[in-house]
Amino acid sequence: MLTPLNLQRTPRHVAIIMDGNGRWARARWLPRAAGHRAGVQVLTPLLETAGELGVETLTLYAFSTENWTRPETEVSTLMSLFLETARGKVPDLNERGARLRFVGRRENLPESVRAAIREAEMLTAANDKLDVYIALNYGGRSEIVDAARRMISAGLDPEDVNEETFARYLYAPEAPEVDLVIRTSGELRVSNFLLWQIAYAEFYVTDTLWPDFSAQEFRRAIESFSARSRRRGGV
Ligand code: FPP
Repeated sequence: MLTPLNLQRTPRHVAIIMDGNGRWARARWLPRAAGHRAGVQVLTPLLETAGELGVETLTLYAFSTENWTRPETEVSTLMSLFLETARGKVPDLNERGARLRFVGRRENLPESVRAAIREAEMLTAANDKLDVYIALNYGGRSEIVDAARRMISAGLDPEDVNEETFARYLYAPEAPEVDLVIRTSGELRVSNFLLWQIAYAEFYVTDTLWPDFSAQEFRRAIESFSARSRRRGGV
């Protein structure tokens, strides 16, 4: 274990855009799938470190609503990898006390993936050490549209719709607001990730490609957050 950081404030909720798997693979003359596989290896040290540092909630962007436009072979490789990862890692995550949940439009995912999601959520439902949300077939705009649809179906009076009631119809209303967004591979974009939840989030962008993202760099990101003063529109 590394030395504990002197943190003034730990972010409660960290959301991560895991980008750069393809470039990592290309730099090694490997197929893109090898980059995604290497990306999965980062998850265990990341979750361990999150627990050590006192982060309560992590959201990981695994597959966006836009990712369906990738070549069919890559999409099916990713779906197989999600299944394989669920089989290989969920028991371990469960033992470590992580509660897994998935956010996104499930209806378009293959039935095998939906079944793995249901199983992982059921198995880990009672855990309370760390909440881990996997964004799968997720889009921030879709989430807002889905929330509006559900609100209308529930027959809410327009007078009763405010930010608080709206937030109750999002995919994970129980999750605290996002404090810190980390994006790897140097892109300065939000890419339709948690549009509602990141309203006041701090950003940490690193050039490191996702498969090279280490526990140490995760600690640096948390440290950087801890040193900032958040004004939320005030002075
Ligand atoms: C972005 O790299 C990464 C993805 C679209 C998939 C992320 C998935 C994983 C890391 C593995 C599974 C994770 C979980 C939580 C099960 P990219 O392909 O966009 O890279 P590029 O921009 O360099 O092409």
